[in-house]
Amino acid sequence: MKIDILTLFPEFFSNLSNWSIIGRAIDKNILNLELINIRDFSTNKHRKVDDYPFGGGPGMVMSPQPIYNAINSIKTKKSRVIYLSPQGRKLNQEVINNLSKEEHLILLCGHYEGIDNRIIENYIDEEISIGDYVLTGGEIPAMVIIDSVVRLLPNVLKGEESYMDESHYGGLLEHPQYTRPRVFNEVRVPDILISGNHSKIEKWKRYESLKATFIKRPDLLKNVNLTKEDKDSLLLIQQEQDNNS
Ligand SMILES: C[S@@+](CC[C@H](N)C(=O)[O-])C[C@H]1O[C@@H](n2cnc3c(N)ncnc32)[C@H](O)[C@@H]1O
Repeated sequence: MKIDILTLFPEFFSNLSNWSIIGRAIDKNILNLELINIRDFSTNKHRKVDDYPFGGGPGMVMSPQPIYNAINSIKTKKSRVIYLSPQGRKLNQEVINNLSKEEHLILLCGHYEGIDNRIIENYIDEEISIGDYVLTGGEIPAMVIIDSVVRLLPNVLKGEESYMDESHYGGLLEHPQYTRPRVFNEVRVPDILISGNHSKIEKWKRYESLKATFIKRPDLLKNVNLTKEDKDSLLLIQQEQDNNS
């Protein structure tokens, strides 16, 4: 996969290619990550990239010309151009799964009051938001996308690492995790996990995954294909919760 980041602040990403999983993907030639400074495309003699908003208002707006030229310098028929924006579709695992199947992502980071709307209307495939709040720039949202997409690319995670069981991938939250010591501050790891009985452990994991979702994010359950066994487990979990309250 190729990812081009269009930004006014490339230095923001200076360590990105050394991060564990991203670095691994670059080393294995699975990821080609390029930083493009939008300012390099300004035709203004002072390399200006922003201007006052028409109609008045606070702050500056990123001008269309440098962004347009920057996009055109790298865009091909296979590119998906994404503008990180608080007004975009809200990011979730399904969006990330789909993005991970793209060949070429162009991530456009806005700054100041945002970018000229003519770019959004005519040269962007999609606006994506990382949540209903406003950040100073699109750089952190771009990093969020890169990190979550790259770990899904084939051969990036090592054999023992898997995204399939992790929260959100299959619609549920992940079961609780424990590591050594077996007893910590008098609290024991669930016996089943040290029983060596793999089929029972798998059942426990599914049950606990349903339970975590039921307790922490019940809204997710409506989008999951539940088996008869899952539905029975949820009834039990419901009873357990009722008894505890
Ligand atoms: C201060 S924001 C501009 C907000 C804009 N004036 C508005 O009210 O919609 C500057 C830049 O940060 C990025 N940004 C801010 N919040 C974001 C979010 N929740 N998700 C993705 N990008 C965001 C966008 O690239 C945006 O152009």
